Amino acid sequence: MVELALPRGSQPKKGKTWPNPDGAKNTRTFKVYRYDPEAGGNPRWDTYTVDLDDCGPMVLDALLWIKNNVDSTLAFRRSCREGVCGSCAMNIGGRNTIACTKGMDEVKGDITIAPLPHQPVVKDLIPDLTDFYAQHAFVQPYLQTKTAEPEKEWRQSDEDRSEVDGLYECIMCASCSTACPSYWWNSDKYLGPAALLQAYRWISDSRDEMTGERLDALEDPFKLYRCHTIMNCAQVCPKGLNPAEAIAGIKQLMVEREG
Ligand code: SF4
Ligand code: FES
Repeated sequence: MVELALPRGSQPKKGKTWPNPDGAKNTRTFKVYRYDPEAGGNPRWDTYTVDLDDCGPMVLDALLWIKNNVDSTLAFRRSCREGVCGSCAMNIGGRNTIACTKGMDEVKGDITIAPLPHQPVVKDLIPDLTDFYAQHAFVQPYLQTKTAEPEKEWRQSDEDRSEVDGLYECIMCASCSTACPSYWWNSDKYLGPAALLQAYRWISDSRDEMTGERLDALEDPFKLYRCHTIMNCAQVCPKGLNPAEAIAGIKQLMVEREG
């Protein structure tokens, strides 16, 4: 494992201040976390001046502008630019979110950008989400049935379909899990809000026939019960979802089946 990102460990040192290209007047200042574990050395904050007259309004636009115009070595993930793929999640102005839907005007003063907290860093703003995806895989996020396959499709009433509203919209950006202190402290054992929201999404699906087995897999002092309703997950979710509520739903089902 490489060195952990913020907030664990020493604070990055001040790094390079990149020149303001063409002496632009209408600008914003970005302080961006830079770290290349393979190159060695320590993390640092580099400072960039972005020409707002030549750049779109979102934080991701600014990062792309920096990469295209100032510093091609800056590394970050992004794909859809529409808040759908979840790949551009990072910590912006001290809060986890996705860069493509975060307006620069939503952040006051200099805009600080760091990778998602408490994950190993691959490079700069790219966290290593290997464990996060393994936790997602653990909850088996797909329909599982026992009865014979229907001729055409697994049907669902409108009412049953609405049971997964607020759950299916998750884009697996990891903002919630990496904002959760319980997850920071026990990320090897606690599944975290994102994976548990996904677990509840399939438990709540009227077509799924593995509820008992799914609950059995979560019946563990750490996997589920390390949620202490701190609620950071719901505060940061860029899709407005409430993983803590989903986790409470799973705990309620555990109680009901025991009673
Ligand atoms: S619940 Fe929200 S914050 Fe968490 S992974 Fe899904 S979309 Fe991202
Ligand atoms: S680039 Fe896909 S969610 Fe931001």
